[in-house]
Amino acid sequence: MALCHTLAEFTEEPGRITRLFLTPPVRDVHALLRERMEQMGMSVNVDAAGNLRGVWTPVGSTARRLLIGSHIDTVPNAGAFDGVLGVALALECVELARTLQVPFAVEVLAFSEEEGVRFGVPFLGSRAVAGRFDSALLACRDSEGATAESALRAFGLDPAQIPAAAASEEAIGFLEFHIEQGPVLEAENLSVAVVDGIAGQSRLTFEFAGQANHAGTTPMALRRDALTAAAEWIAAVEAHAKDVRGLVATVGAIAVEPNAGNVVPGLARLSLDVRHADDAVRHTAVSGLTAQAKAIAARRSLTVTSAVSLDQPAVALDAHLSALLCRAVEDCGMPGKRMYSGAGHDAMILAARMPAAMLFLRSPGGISHNPAEAVDVEDVAAALPAARAFLQCLAEDNHLQG
Ligand code: HGY
Ligand code: MN
Ligand code: MN
Repeated sequence: MALCHTLAEFTEEPGRITRLFLTPPVRDVHALLRERMEQMGMSVNVDAAGNLRGVWTPVGSTARRLLIGSHIDTVPNAGAFDGVLGVALALECVELARTLQVPFAVEVLAFSEEEGVRFGVPFLGSRAVAGRFDSALLACRDSEGATAESALRAFGLDPAQIPAAAASEEAIGFLEFHIEQGPVLEAENLSVAVVDGIAGQSRLTFEFAGQANHAGTTPMALRRDALTAAAEWIAAVEAHAKDVRGLVATVGAIAVEPNAGNVVPGLARLSLDVRHADDAVRHTAVSGLTAQAKAIAARRSLTVTSAVSLDQPAVALDAHLSALLCRAVEDCGMPGKRMYSGAGHDAMILAARMPAAMLFLRSPGGISHNPAEAVDVEDVAAALPAARAFLQCLAEDNHLQG
């Protein structure tokens, strides 16, 4: 808990927690985590995608590795636990592994970018570890026009080395601890849950283009107002999502040009985030919402263009690893609650490379991506014996030892 609060001090915006991909406060996070890891006898490096990685290896063993970690970037004005709690608990797992003298190595990963805030594309760090980093991502630009490639080089990294960041496919698996970020565990008064799967997500940008004009002289009937068209579509997005069971759709960001009170907006640029457990339902929703944008634009004599920045399929987490994790939770006297994640996580990317499992911790108030985000110390204390029991199960599980 103390580590999470200390890391929360490293921010781009004093007074609130904002830490995007490889910005200056990330150097402070790396320095603190590196110091902790080296004190724990771990070998530490930063890979070419900016992931900080520490490895604890049992004496004289070249055994396979269990990877444990989460992300250290945040959304703007974030809470103190999304991502970093998973890194803090990963470090606790190293202490447990050492105490238990497990026969496998443990690699702790602090992923450089999971939220997708700076460049509009999430999972830049875990894609590299999963061997799925598309070099086209290097050309993505942030709000100042800087490319992801320039951000990596400014941090002292060589993008050409990103392929070398891929984890071995022989790894035992990947475990991520994360706050639930929703209301389920609080409603059921549970500390933890094993995650069965993670919803797929689509991220797009839409641009409504009309005609900027004078707010005082342009009659209502002659306007081609991009912002009122966008407003009509945003209401349609909400109505559509309310009609489809299990679907969530969000317009979270909007930019207007020229963004002046006495000018009819000529341009409105919006984000769209669509999620569902079933990829077909999600794709149908994206097609429907795109068609609605075109219809609204046509009726108002505007044009609308859209671009897809993410089409991430839903992912089922590893059945065997999750069963072991569930047994560990039950061995600690807690119900073996299983649940689905509406939030995306690095585990869904690592799952393409190795068995992946997740343990959720209760989110008081069910709130996240908000400074009110919290975690109860009692729930963190409940997660530790479950982590210990899981490491013990893994140590005894020959199937995974290979
Ligand atoms: O947006 C998400 O699902 C996560 O917080 N990155
Ligand atoms: Mn998040
Ligand atoms: Mn997260």
